[in-house]
Amino acid sequence: MPRNAAIPTFLITGSNGQVGFELRRSLAPLGKVVALDRSSCDLTRPDDIRRVVREFQPDVIVNPAAYTAVDKAESEPELAYAINGAAVEVLAAEAKALGSLLVHYSTDYVFDGSKADAYVETDAVNPQSVYGKSKLAGEQAISAAGVAHLVFRTCWVAGAHGGNFAKTMLKLGRERDSLRVIADQFGAPTTAALIADVTAQVVARHWLSGDRTSFASGIYHLAAAGETTWHAYASEVLRYAAAKGIELKVDPARIEAIPATAYPLPAPRPANSRLDTSKLRHTFGIHLPDWQQGMHYLLDQIFS
Ligand SMILES: NC(=O)c1ccc[n+]([C@@H]2O[C@H](COP(=O)([O-])OP(=O)(O)OC[C@H]3O[C@@H](n4cnc5c(N)ncnc54)[C@H](OP(=O)(O)O)[C@@H]3O)[C@@H](O)[C@H]2O)c1
Repeated sequence: MPRNAAIPTFLITGSNGQVGFELRRSLAPLGKVVALDRSSCDLTRPDDIRRVVREFQPDVIVNPAAYTAVDKAESEPELAYAINGAAVEVLAAEAKALGSLLVHYSTDYVFDGSKADAYVETDAVNPQSVYGKSKLAGEQAISAAGVAHLVFRTCWVAGAHGGNFAKTMLKLGRERDSLRVIADQFGAPTTAALIADVTAQVVARHWLSGDRTSFASGIYHLAAAGETTWHAYASEVLRYAAAKGIELKVDPARIEAIPATAYPLPAPRPANSRLDTSKLRHTFGIHLPDWQQGMHYLLDQIFS
């Protein structure tokens, strides 16, 4: 298919991940979607990446694939950097050579979480974990390549397809009569569907704009509106489940609130994962709904 035809071609990596799966749906009305998984494009193999990009010549490369095992990354940093850093550098170079747009996803873990307010895009980064550092390496590779890009930093992602905190709480709530959940870390649960839908909206705007070279390349924070703690998030997921008739062992109103220090993990988490989304909203006219709205919709999908 010739590039820059009326219908654009999208190449999606990691299309079986939470966000990748939803992108297959949200990008489909915009053009031809080439959805790749690890078996068709292994990001640890730079030649795989070059081969698929040169074969399909996408107008837009969308890269939700990532090494996301946050704790495991502490013991296998080479692999985390290969997927989250080096592979992104290759994707950026290929996109630049083709004149394609590169859409990439990053994380609140690039921050140390010590800020009192929500983070804006220009705040100083200071990742505390291997995962956060490897994701920052990916951001920096894109910026250095000088490619047209959109980097969406998001947080607390949950989708119907794949594992996440909400699903873990549902499982534990069915199995156990008591639960202890961290109550001193703050963020906004953001559904994979919202991330994919916003991606499609912004990309459509890019595609329809006459002058794609002056498109607003950059980093954008993308999270649902509102904020909560892991404890309040778990309580809401289980309250909603009980209201929908899901049988639970735990009483959603009696989940124990604990400090992060009572639940040590190999990789430190930011205490503050709140992302200020003003730039995304103002630049592209995007409305970001409250996190509960997306979460209820996601839970309805999981229960059906
Ligand atoms: N999950 C979160 O809470 C969160 C928070 C902030 C930012 N993010 C970022 O948001 C983006 C999407 O996250 P997500 O939750 O959708 O992640 P996910 O569900 O873990 O999916 C990641 C995908 O990457 C694929 N992948 C891993 N290694 C690969 C390799 N070597 N070659 C090709 N594919 C590979 C996985 O393939 P397999 O299915 O074969 O393993 C999986 O499909 C990522 O950039 C992530 O860093 C996520």
